[in-house]
Amino acid sequence: MKEVVQVQHVTKAFKDKAAVQDASFTIQQGEIVALLGPNGAGKTTTISMILGLIKPSAGEVKLFGKSPTDKEVRERMGTMLQEVSVMDGLKVRELLDLFRHYYPNPLSLQELIALTGLTQTELHIRVEKLSGGQKRRLNFALSLAGNPDLLLFDEPTVGMDITSRQRFWQTIRALSEQGKTIMFTTHYLQEADEIAKRIVLFNRGKVVADDTPAAIKARITKSFVTFNANQEWVKLLNGFPEVIHIYEQDGIIRIETEDTDAVLGLLFRENVGARNIRIEQGKLDEVFERLTTDMKEVGQDEALV
Ligand SMILES: Nc1ncnc2c1ncn2[C@@H]1O[C@H](COP(=O)(O)OP(=O)(O)OP(=O)(O)O)[C@@H](O)[C@H]1O
Ligand SMILES: [Mg+2]
Repeated sequence: MKEVVQVQHVTKAFKDKAAVQDASFTIQQGEIVALLGPNGAGKTTTISMILGLIKPSAGEVKLFGKSPTDKEVRERMGTMLQEVSVMDGLKVRELLDLFRHYYPNPLSLQELIALTGLTQTELHIRVEKLSGGQKRRLNFALSLAGNPDLLLFDEPTVGMDITSRQRFWQTIRALSEQGKTIMFTTHYLQEADEIAKRIVLFNRGKVVADDTPAAIKARITKSFVTFNANQEWVKLLNGFPEVIHIYEQDGIIRIETEDTDAVLGLLFRENVGARNIRIEQGKLDEVFERLTTDMKEVGQDEALV
C-alpha cells in the first residue's frame, strides 16, 4: 500500500492559540477518509496544511512522499475549499477550459460533465449568475479538471440538494474505485458513516479517534441483541463474558454487548431457541458526542488513538 498523505506530529499555532496540536495520521492510496469534528476543531486548518496553503508551526506534511508545495505534487491534487469563490466574468465552460489548461493530463470536458452532472445550460451561464448549489457543482468540476490522484474536500456537500449530493457521493465512490485517494470533512455524520473507509475525529485540535466507522462505533457505543426466548435464559446467559447486561421484559430479552457477533454465536451454541433476533447498533452521532463533548468523562483509558 502506498502512503499518499502523511501528517506527522503536525501543530499549527495562530499567535499563541494552537488550532492543531500534534496531529498524526496517514492515508493510503485509494482510501476515502472523513475528517470529523465540531466547529473550530482544526479540520480546515489541517486541510490547509495538507494543501500547502499554510505551513505547520511544527511537524511535517508529506504528499506522495514529497512536500505539498512541490509542483508535481500540486498537479496531482484537486480541492474544493470551505469558502466557495469562483472567478467572475467567465462562462462556466470557459472557466473549465481555463482550468483544464493548467494541467498536463486534464480530463475532457465531456468527462467532467459526466462526473459532476453539470448541464449544457449551465455551461453557458456566467459564473457569477450561478446559484449556490450550481457553484458547488462547478467547483467540483474544477477540482477534477486536472485528473488528480488526491482529492481534498472541505465540507463539499453544504448547500447541495439531495440529488446533487447523491450524485456527488456516487462520483466519489467511482473515483475511489479507480484508485484515487479522497479526504473530506463534513458535519453530516451519516455521510461519513456511509462513504468513508476511515474516520479521523478531531476535537480541540487533537486527533481523538482514527479508525473505520464500524470500529469507532463498536468500540464505544453499546450494541444490543434483542430476541424472544424463554425467560429462564436471562439467568443462564448472565455469566458469559460477552454479555455486559441482560434485560427482560414481556418475553423479550435484550443483551447489551460490545460484540454482537459473539452474542449471536453464544445464542446458537447454547441452543437458546431465540426467535425474532434483532441487532441494534450504536449510532455514530453518539460516539461523536461522547468523544467531543464528554472528553473528560471518556478519559485516557477510553481514548481511541
Ligand atoms: N487564520 C487564522 N487565524 C487565527 N485563528 C485561526 C485561523 N484559522 C483558524 N483559526 C482558529 O483555529 C481553530 C480551528 O479552526 P478551523 O477552521 O481549522 O476549524 P474547523 O474544524 O474547520 O471548524 P468548522 O467546522 O467550523 O469549519 C479555531 O479556533 C479558529 O478560530
Ligand atoms: Mg472548517
